[in-house]
Amino acid sequence: GLPSSVTIYEVGPRDGLQNEKKVIPADVKVAFIDLLSGAGFKAIEATSFVSPKWVPQLGDAAEVVARMRKAPGVEYPVLTPNMKGLAGALAAGCREVAVFAAASEAFSRKNINCSVRDSLKRFEEVVVAARKEGVKVRGYVSCAVGCPIQGAVEPAAAADVGAALHHMGCYEVSMADTIGVGTPASMERMLGATLAAGVPAARLAVHCHDTYGMAVANIIAAMRMGVAVVDASVAGLGGCPYARGATGNVATEDVMYMLDGYGISHGLDWGRVLDASEYISAALGRPNGSRAAKALLAR
Ligand code: HMG
Ligand code: MG
Repeated sequence: GLPSSVTIYEVGPRDGLQNEKKVIPADVKVAFIDLLSGAGFKAIEATSFVSPKWVPQLGDAAEVVARMRKAPGVEYPVLTPNMKGLAGALAAGCREVAVFAAASEAFSRKNINCSVRDSLKRFEEVVVAARKEGVKVRGYVSCAVGCPIQGAVEPAAAADVGAALHHMGCYEVSMADTIGVGTPASMERMLGATLAAGVPAARLAVHCHDTYGMAVANIIAAMRMGVAVVDASVAGLGGCPYARGATGNVATEDVMYMLDGYGISHGLDWGRVLDASEYISAALGRPNGSRAAKALLAR
């Protein structure tokens, strides 16, 4: 069966904007987050406390966190790749953080400059320190079904990393098809292996990219396996710097349209989601990347 409600975890301000070529002023980021804050999301991933040499676009993380509105009942997690990132996040007052491992050795080295095994050791330190402060930690498994460098990824490799993050204390593990090559079949194999490795469906999220137009189908496959948290970004923002041709995250609006069709509640306000989506599309100077948004706005 399908869940009766699904939580959309909005990643637009972080995953959506990290990869933009033009510098986006902090004002725009703050205004975007503030629009999202009124739309009904329970979690909005705001930015990353990563090295500005690696991701210059998010070098203003502390400023953005300081200036964004913190709506009651909304969490604003930030990415923290190491203890330095955690220290920055804590100093900024963040109460939710996320660590990000990869199912592929090659991607791990390219993205965070260390092996998967070393990254898990580093993340364990971050998770322990964060939880000591009462801060929740989410875990990501990038390249869970495919890697831009090594190609296919074994379901067992994704499952092992997911289980490691779960066992070290991540409250939720998001299995990410970073380059959007997955199909419902490969998602089912990967999620099946992850469930078998001991991560309960209630602790799993999926993070799909729409490169091949499979993202919504992949999410439905995941929902049928009990997953009820879905990462998405309004206007389908995003991409992967290490994967040529990879497109953005699945659009929040496209997921909402699918959920509405099933009568599955998501708690989001269509008008406000579309306002945030149109705002950021205009600020980036490009057409809205969500097909559902485009269709609805054309009516
Ligand atoms: P490194 O170069 O190996 O790190 O990078 P280091 O410890 O040797 O430090 C090098 C320099 O960076 C030093 O500065 C540090 O102080 C500084 P210097 O002495 O040269 O002036 N530094 C930092 N500065 C600010 N904040 C920090 C920090 N850490 C070190 N936290 C590191 C290793 C992990 C830091 C780097 O590789 C990095 O920041 N990577 C982040 C990459 C990233 O954010 N990628 C995108 C997110 S993951 C993703 O998109 C996938 C996901 O969205 C899922 C999906 O979409 O599928 C999650
Ligand atoms: Mg993504």
